[in-house]
Amino acid sequence: MRNNTEIVMELAEQRKNNTIAFKVICFDEEKMIQTYRGEYRNLMTLLNEKFYLENFGECRGMGRCCTCVVEVEAMENCLAGKQRNEASTLNKMGIDQPNMRLACQIMIDEELDNAEITIGVF
Ligand code: FES
Repeated sequence: MRNNTEIVMELAEQRKNNTIAFKVICFDEEKMIQTYRGEYRNLMTLLNEKFYLENFGECRGMGRCCTCVVEVEAMENCLAGKQRNEASTLNKMGIDQPNMRLACQIMIDEELDNAEITIGVF
């Protein structure tokens, strides 16, 4: 039977093996981010915590305010996955580039691995 320490170490090892890493360019700052599935509710939440952004994500992830718009590179499946309010919100703001996404609509999962996210393009 495993003790608590062994269980905690096993969980830490599982997290390490499920690391999701990607680059974020935020105005003049460039950072490599490492996270794992489930650590943050979505990309908007992660970016707010890592970069302390003002006025980013004002509708708290409802996909309506468009303040969390980011440019996404190297994330093939993600670029096809606009759902819920995202497409109409981007359309209303006149954003028609396929690689512009609402960070609140991007989940933290393996599709983010090796992606490049740029904040402040729009
Ligand atoms: S937080 Fe409002 S659209 Fe993403």
